Amino acid sequence: MSESIQGKVVVITGASSGIGEATARLLASQGARLVLGARREDRLRQIVAEIEQAGGQAICRQLDVTKPADNDAIVKLARERFGGIDVILLNAGLMPNSPLSALKTDDWHRMVDVNIKGVLNGVAAVLPAFIAQKSGHVIAISSVAGLKAYPGGAVYGGTKWFVRNFMEVLRMESAMEGTHIRTATIYPAAINTELLTTISQKDARDRLQAIYARYGIAPERIASVVAFAIGQPADTTINEFTVGPAEQPW
Ligand SMILES: NC(=O)c1ccc[n+]([C@@H]2O[C@H](COP(=O)([O-])OP(=O)(O)OC[C@H]3O[C@@H](n4cnc5c(N)ncnc54)[C@H](OP(=O)(O)O)[C@@H]3O)[C@@H](O)[C@H]2O)c1
Repeated sequence: MSESIQGKVVVITGASSGIGEATARLLASQGARLVLGARREDRLRQIVAEIEQAGGQAICRQLDVTKPADNDAIVKLARERFGGIDVILLNAGLMPNSPLSALKTDDWHRMVDVNIKGVLNGVAAVLPAFIAQKSGHVIAISSVAGLKAYPGGAVYGGTKWFVRNFMEVLRMESAMEGTHIRTATIYPAAINTELLTTISQKDARDRLQAIYARYGIAPERIASVVAFAIGQPADTTINEFTVGPAEQPW
């Protein structure tokens, strides 16, 4: 068991499935105290119950990351129940890819609201505590789509590109201001989760489903990278990880 993870209070957005759920289970097994948020509260309650049965500590709260008040409330819950907050994993996201010519403007706006504004709301909620205590760890799930352009991913990739820029500036400013806030940004490739169910355009979904069926790996692979980043000594930031199937050309 890593001493650095033991006892840490970790808020995870989008913890009801996929990468967020796998990370919650792994960190709980390593002694972290988890605060889980997502819209599907029934799923969160089930995950909390299973973590507790396994001897871990977790609580949950319904969270829509697009609502600033929800983000503030889950951070407040962490502080009230566990006496503080050490880490936020900004993981909630969706990927309704489509060609721009399909003009799926509702999908475009939803991606901006969740993948960009959700990250802003989470950071705004946690930053006052991190600045006051002069410590904290912000971990964000971007995507290889935030590093490389591909057809169908104009808006999704843009939101993930935003995360890259935002996180790098957060890292720089925290270092300059002496707030000791660590950052890590993770760029996953094909990970088998519920993400493809968010794609409303059939052609885009079929194409990606074929890629994931061939290459996809388990969300636990990302969870172990998150645990690795948290487990580093407090004076060490591991800034970026690109993680994906060994067989996938990306
Ligand atoms: N899977 C991949 O191949 C892959 C690759 C690169 C990056 N990523 C990124 O990894 C992150 C996690 O996705 P995943 O692959 O684990 O997919 P997933 O299984 O669909 O999980 C997405 C999570 O986000 C939550 N969520 C969506 N909208 C939300 C909202 N408005 N407020 C709060 N929570 C919200 C969902 O919960 P509710 O529906 O219950 O709210 C769910 O828990 C996303 O940011 C995604 O872009 C995934």
